[in-house]
Amino acid sequence: MINKENYTVEILFPERQIQKRIFAISSQISKDYENKDLVVVAVLNGSFIFCADLVRNLDVRCAIDFIRVSSYSGGQSSGRVKVISDFKEESRGKDVLIVEDIADSGVTLDFLIGKISANKPKSIKTCVFLDKKCARQKDVPIDYSCFEIGNDFIVGYGLDYSGFFRQLPYVGRIKEFNK
Ligand code: IMP
Ligand code: MG
Repeated sequence: MINKENYTVEILFPERQIQKRIFAISSQISKDYENKDLVVVAVLNGSFIFCADLVRNLDVRCAIDFIRVSSYSGGQSSGRVKVISDFKEESRGKDVLIVEDIADSGVTLDFLIGKISANKPKSIKTCVFLDKKCARQKDVPIDYSCFEIGNDFIVGYGLDYSGFFRQLPYVGRIKEFNK
């Protein structure tokens, strides 16, 4: 059972630190995409909060669309990626930036890069909120990342445990103390 009494979240990155880092990453992206044809593809569900903060700090023109995929159930990877709802924005000849909550095994990003490349975009880059480098199974390029983390299961700021904890304005490690 998931409820407040059973779990505590040990804060890893507080809200202010996250916002500061996002401002820096957004500024870099704005520089890199000046006079380009940017299409942001946010990967749902996990990136909804990160992407919303990121794009609100961008000062370049961009189209924003969403792709909904699933690869995890509960705390465990199934190793397979399923597209539940595809994005509709034209990506051919455009500069696509995939925005993801976390690069863990890399399976999701590897799949998405392959899928979007087939549409022949002009360029394709990745932007992740968290980079769990030590858990990587697929060698995927990460072009922008806010924070690198260790091999812990993280919740908050869009990241969930079984659908919960996404709304936390900070990220942290989950601690279960009373089943
Ligand atoms: P992948 O293993 O890189 O394919 O990551 C797949 C997805 O698993 C991510 O988009 C996240 O939604 C989810 N995920 C991976 N690690 C964590 C975590 O520590 N907390 C919450 N979700 C995670
Ligand atoms: Mg998830």
